[in-house]
Amino acid sequence: MQISTSILSIKENIDKKILELNNLDTDYIHLDIMDGKFVTNKTRSFDEIYEDIKNTTKKVDVHLMVKDVKKYVDKYLLINPDIITFHLEAIDNIDEMIDYIKEHNTKVGLAIKPNTSIEDLSFYLNKVDLILVMTVEPGKGGQEFIKEMEEKVDELRLLKDAYKYDYLIEVDGGINNKTLLNVLNSDILVVGSYITSSNDYKKQIDTLREQIKKYE
Ligand code: DX5
Ligand code: ZN
Repeated sequence: MQISTSILSIKENIDKKILELNNLDTDYIHLDIMDGKFVTNKTRSFDEIYEDIKNTTKKVDVHLMVKDVKKYVDKYLLINPDIITFHLEAIDNIDEMIDYIKEHNTKVGLAIKPNTSIEDLSFYLNKVDLILVMTVEPGKGGQEFIKEMEEKVDELRLLKDAYKYDYLIEVDGGINNKTLLNVLNSDILVVGSYITSSNDYKKQIDTLREQIKKYE
């Protein structure tokens, strides 16, 4: 199981804290992008975000919580992310967008909000590299994990095994050393405030790793 550290809730010395993550056991930096339309919050400008993350040595996992997906895909392709994930609920031309991101040699993920079912994804399961199951309502860090979402993760795992799909299963929202026990069928844990609200990132990440190791 991999860890993707969400930097959304880091408020001070963001660039330095991201550099600190270079030396820690996180697989990705998870970059949450919000437009004030798909969700009410709005993230800082591309240029400001770029300044903070340009020296990361980690793979970047971009999570777009935006309406105008194409516009943000074009911007964030510039940082060479490993994966760009957009929301199923955001646009109608899902197929076109999946192809567009793939054409740019970037992995593509589809995210679903807590009220969206796995059935709504069925047409895309064989086309994407990652499915992101939101385990809180998208829009801000520090919320409580919605336990019922574990059923979606289990269903995605069953489908993946039965049909030999390639997607990674990512969970995002309210993940910590305890709630991760509900989503052991996932491949990537996005973890924000559990890591970044502490002043000892290493200790938090190591605790997550120890917990994961017990069940792998
Ligand atoms: C929420 C974001 C998450 C969030 C995770 O809309 O997509 O990535 O930052 O933060 P925590 O772990 O604090 O819920
Ligand atoms: Zn996210």
